Amino acid sequence: GATLTLIGLESSCDDTAAAVVRHASGARPEILSSVVAGQTDLHAPFGGVVPEIAARAHAEKVDICVEAALAEAGVGLAALDAIAVTAGPGLIGGVLSGVMCAKGLAAASGLPLVGINHLAGHALTPRLTDGLAFPYLILLVSGGHCQFLMVRGAEDFTRLGGTIDDAPGEAFDKTARLLALPQPGGPAVEAEAAAGDPARFTFPRPLLDRPGCDLSFSGLKTALLRARDALIAEKGGLTRADRADLCAGFQAAVRDVLVEKSRRAITLYLQEGPDSPAIAVAGGVAANASLRAALRVLAEEAGLRFVAPPLRLCTDNAAMIAWAGIERFRAGHCDDMTLAARPRWPL
Ligand code: KG4
Ligand code: ZN
Repeated sequence: GATLTLIGLESSCDDTAAAVVRHASGARPEILSSVVAGQTDLHAPFGGVVPEIAARAHAEKVDICVEAALAEAGVGLAALDAIAVTAGPGLIGGVLSGVMCAKGLAAASGLPLVGINHLAGHALTPRLTDGLAFPYLILLVSGGHCQFLMVRGAEDFTRLGGTIDDAPGEAFDKTARLLALPQPGGPAVEAEAAAGDPARFTFPRPLLDRPGCDLSFSGLKTALLRARDALIAEKGGLTRADRADLCAGFQAAVRDVLVEKSRRAITLYLQEGPDSPAIAVAGGVAANASLRAALRVLAEEAGLRFVAPPLRLCTDNAAMIAWAGIERFRAGHCDDMTLAARPRWPL
């Protein structure tokens, strides 16, 4: 079969990234390079991603990332078959930087452009890492995403449900802030929770009483805030044990909700009659050991293969964009210079 080599560009949130992926049909894809330039330090003083700062940093770094990705892969533009770029959804300034850089490369080289939906990039990653066959189920859980997708084809996604308010990573980050723990909150809360009693505080399990796969995390934050303030009012402050118990209770609530909604998503998915049933989890929150372990047990009980790609490919990166480009290009799709950057772009 034909071998395809694509460069991918990603700049939709707070990471600027470029990567080169090669795939001979029938063989395992190869990540020849994957460069990610983060912006955490730039945004840290502001307690969140500042769009103008993100846009400027992407504009400054995208060319450097492209050069580094080509150099690391040991290929020039002439060795490529196409240029894949995240065309949305995301912060428009960042998406524009990536799309304009990709158009410049396409104009200079004559190579075709392939516009990629960032969420499709995440959703197709388990095929890059583990060769999953369609249809499979994926739970995207990060600071910005929370949804169940049934992936039927490279361009065929069905959203089974998702958060109606915050993403779970945001809730972890907010919890850390409320408890004076460092950012990003997920790892800090998980570390504290290890020494805590998850039964001391019972936090709500939002939307479990309602059918379907939708989730909600904003009420959980409020419950945590109340429990914290009650402790402070009672004794003037939090002990180490209080903090650990709050973290453990919070983490257990997030995990229970995600696991129960995953159970429902699996039921819907199995109605499709997949030949090789599988569920994948991706996004920064997939790093949570307690969540991962619970999802693995759930999957195995339901007879599904459980796949958790390496974290560097679950969080924002450009290898997933190059790979999604390969899948789309193989299916005969490509774009031209009219490719638009889209702040909103539902799958
Ligand atoms: O995918 P990601 O790197 O970036 C986007 O959200 O786009 O995810 C980052 C999120 C943060 O909210 C972070 O607190 C959370 O993932 N996270 C975790 C853990 N590690 C990272 N949440 C829970 N447990 C963890 N161990
Ligand atoms: Zn993402």
